[in-house]
Amino acid sequence: MVAELLDGKRVAAEILEGLRRRIACLPHPPCIAFLRIGENAASRFYVGRKVAVAKDLGIRSIVEVFPEQVAEKTILEQLSRWNSDGEIDGILVQAPLPSREFQRSAFAAVDPAKDVDGFHPYNFGLLAQERPGGFIPCTPKGILRLLEAYAIPTDGRHAVIVGRSLIVGRPLSLLLQSHGANATVTVCHSRSQQLRSIVRSADILISAAGQPNLILEDMVAEGTTVVDVGQNSVPDETFPGGHRLCGDVDFPALRHRCSHLTPVPGGVGPMTVAMLMENAVEAVERKFPGNRRNDPPIEQKCFPS
Ligand code: GUN
Repeated sequence: MVAELLDGKRVAAEILEGLRRRIACLPHPPCIAFLRIGENAASRFYVGRKVAVAKDLGIRSIVEVFPEQVAEKTILEQLSRWNSDGEIDGILVQAPLPSREFQRSAFAAVDPAKDVDGFHPYNFGLLAQERPGGFIPCTPKGILRLLEAYAIPTDGRHAVIVGRSLIVGRPLSLLLQSHGANATVTVCHSRSQQLRSIVRSADILISAAGQPNLILEDMVAEGTTVVDVGQNSVPDETFPGGHRLCGDVDFPALRHRCSHLTPVPGGVGPMTVAMLMENAVEAVERKFPGNRRNDPPIEQKCFPS
């Protein structure tokens, strides 16, 4: 068996073309404000990618970078200014932040109507209650869209998520068990015992642990769909800069074992960025409902009435 690759780059490009048409119907293109703290190389790279894709769509970006030692008060004041700035439609606070408590305060300080990342407790609550009108976090939403693009069913199947992060594992578990996706969901994390046997029982495995070579060939049953959310940088002298990007799974070995597999890069990453753009377009459409094209928002599929 050779796995079919889930080409996130291709699916994301199609979504972005649809967004161009939606943006053309709006009185103005969206404007997203990005806040980044410190010089974490991955955060710099991700915000850079998001800004580049936004620019290509005609979406405006504002980027503010603060030093690692910044006071929480300074960040909350910046977010408050953006909340009351009518020119800004979406706000994104790039994780990780200096501490978990800092991250919680910053996410909660974003106006829920501009929370295009979906991490405000209000939007998280809407997701947990399957209520439309909020924003769904970009990576989980992108994973569902990728499965949908390849007609991979979730209904009644066992989805195993490795990683319980606020950004991926936790919201993804809510989305997959929603009445739109109907999966049976197991979430594993760093304290889970029997990781191997749980992973082996998956029909759909999503690894979002951030650990290279965590998922090895003998852990996965034949025919499993494997979604690799890992974005790990590993030393490799044959690559420019002496580093190479890899996921959580042993890609060459799993290619011959599973039915579908996402590459890293080119799988989940581009879907995350496309979903951010979609959420930003949605934020402006909510302000101008008369200018909305007829594409139904994903909540209508995830949370059927
Ligand atoms: N860090 C890694 N992924 C993400 C994301 O999707 N949003 C934010 N805000 N931070 C991240």
